[in-house]
Amino acid sequence: MTQLTITRPDDWHLHLRDGDSLGSVVGFTAARFGRAVVMPNLKPPVTTAAAARAYHARIVAALPAGCTFQPLMTLYLTDNTAPDEVDRAIADGLVVGVKYYPAGATTNSDSGVTSIERAFPVLERMQERGLVLQLHGEATDPAVDVFDRERAFIGSTLELILKRFPALKVVLEHVTTREGVDFVRAQGPNVAGTITPQHLLLNRNAMFQGGIRPHLYCLPVLKREHDRVALVEAATSGSPKFFLGTDSAPHARHTKENACGCAGVFSAHAGIELYAEAFEQAGALARLEGFASHFGADFYGLPRNRGAITLRREPWTPPASYAFGAHEIVPFRAGESIAWRLTTAGCA
Ligand code: NCD
Ligand code: ZN
Repeated sequence: MTQLTITRPDDWHLHLRDGDSLGSVVGFTAARFGRAVVMPNLKPPVTTAAAARAYHARIVAALPAGCTFQPLMTLYLTDNTAPDEVDRAIADGLVVGVKYYPAGATTNSDSGVTSIERAFPVLERMQERGLVLQLHGEATDPAVDVFDRERAFIGSTLELILKRFPALKVVLEHVTTREGVDFVRAQGPNVAGTITPQHLLLNRNAMFQGGIRPHLYCLPVLKREHDRVALVEAATSGSPKFFLGTDSAPHARHTKENACGCAGVFSAHAGIELYAEAFEQAGALARLEGFASHFGADFYGLPRNRGAITLRREPWTPPASYAFGAHEIVPFRAGESIAWRLTTAGCA
């Protein structure tokens, strides 16, 4: 197959940042995706329906002319989130979920939840009202090995959440392990997982190939080959429990090429093309549309997009960097080849 037309996809996990940085990156996503769930880990985090509405307006204002892209908002859960905020968010109509970061798990997560029990009243209300809980599924106990944090989170926190709130809609964001895949598969239809392009395409060796590769460092960190294989199987299986979430997470070059480099891979410039490559490698291009354009919308109870995009099998090379406000970002595959190209015009 050399050309592929699919329903316009959605990105169910995306970081857009704010201010000038937002203006630099949002066009990449808007050119490819109809909608994206925009993560709330700003400084300060987006914790209320009012703050989500204001952030939504800034995103829309930063869109290139002619874009119909729709940001879907999510609230950052803290120890102090009131259950009534769930009702306000639903009434407001822009918020599709609440994001749970265990405190200290990743970039800008210091305001996250310190113990799950504190969030029970909010989770109760979310279960009642059908709002989706989006999990950064990593244990934060420093004694847990960094490669075991997802598994540890499932065994401690996630099982507890689902036992207590069996009807809560839950997305295990950026699933990275075979255990994560198996866990999601074993649950009812109210539990799903998103999968990033880097976790489908790479294992952890890539981070150390010929030297340390800071631009491949993200959280959850890349895992073993047997985990990658399980993720590819899940994404290409046709199961509606797994769908696209790039976790594109831009950080200025100097903050990644640093003695203490930030976590995050920027992939929005090729946010659908990279998945096409992974699906083609697996001989499953015919399954890309379900994963990228149908299952996420179905899970969130939103209509599927109407339009379509077309990809062509034609290699191209992303530049060494893109502008990022006053700085620059190094995109995934900078200076290397990507097998598929988007041929649909940007945002008309
Ligand atoms: C994300 C970021 O930079 O905001 N980083 C990452 O490595 N994925 C935070 C996150 O989603 O964990
Ligand atoms: Zn993320």
